Amino acid sequence: MSKGLFITFEGGDGSGKSTQYRLFAEYLRNRGFDVVTTREPGGTRISEKIRDLLLDPECTEMDDMTEALLFAASRAQHVEELIKPSVEAGKIVLCDRFVDSSIVYQGFGRGLGDCVSAINEHAVRGMYPDVTFLLDISPEEGRKRNGKTGKNDRLEKQSMEYHAMVAEGYRKLAAAEPDRFIVIDASGSIQKVASDITDAFEKRYPEL
Ligand code: TYD
Repeated sequence: MSKGLFITFEGGDGSGKSTQYRLFAEYLRNRGFDVVTTREPGGTRISEKIRDLLLDPECTEMDDMTEALLFAASRAQHVEELIKPSVEAGKIVLCDRFVDSSIVYQGFGRGLGDCVSAINEHAVRGMYPDVTFLLDISPEEGRKRNGKTGKNDRLEKQSMEYHAMVAEGYRKLAAAEPDRFIVIDASGSIQKVASDITDAFEKRYPEL
């Protein structure tokens, strides 16, 4: 491939997204692709420092707009330093969360609305994903799974209604951009979800 691909994974907390993106990377590497795995917020030294601030359970007073701008700042560095150069070098970049997370969590979830897309246009400068896998799970099921891993950072300490709004937000985004989004039912076993993802990828890119 002369130009690579940029593929993102999205989903609510507990959707199994991080496990699935790792399995998908393994599948692509076995097929001989040069794969870069990364995550948001994070992925570069500076972006990981911003991540620590964003997820710090002690930062209870963080303003919603501050939060949205910090996610975008972390993303701007990530795009310029890692994502863009890797795709231009012909690699497949897999990213655990990207702009859609901001639109859903800050735009819908925090009620900041359209300004989140506008802020992020500046952050990503045209670097939008070729494909986005949405791992669709009900908020109840997601919360149950998260409970098992005991994670509880600042952003996960939100109410059930907030998580329901997040799930609904993702579904709206996927419906608005059906060419980019591939919606995967994430309620099945790890193996079932993984094979649904690879099947969908092979269908989308039969020539690869
Ligand atoms: P993380 O521990 O990576 O959780 P997950 O495994 O669910 O991806 O934490 C990321 C958290 O940040 C998650 O709760 C979603 C949130 N988030 C936003 O609110 N906006 C964003 O733009 C991004 C990238 C993440």
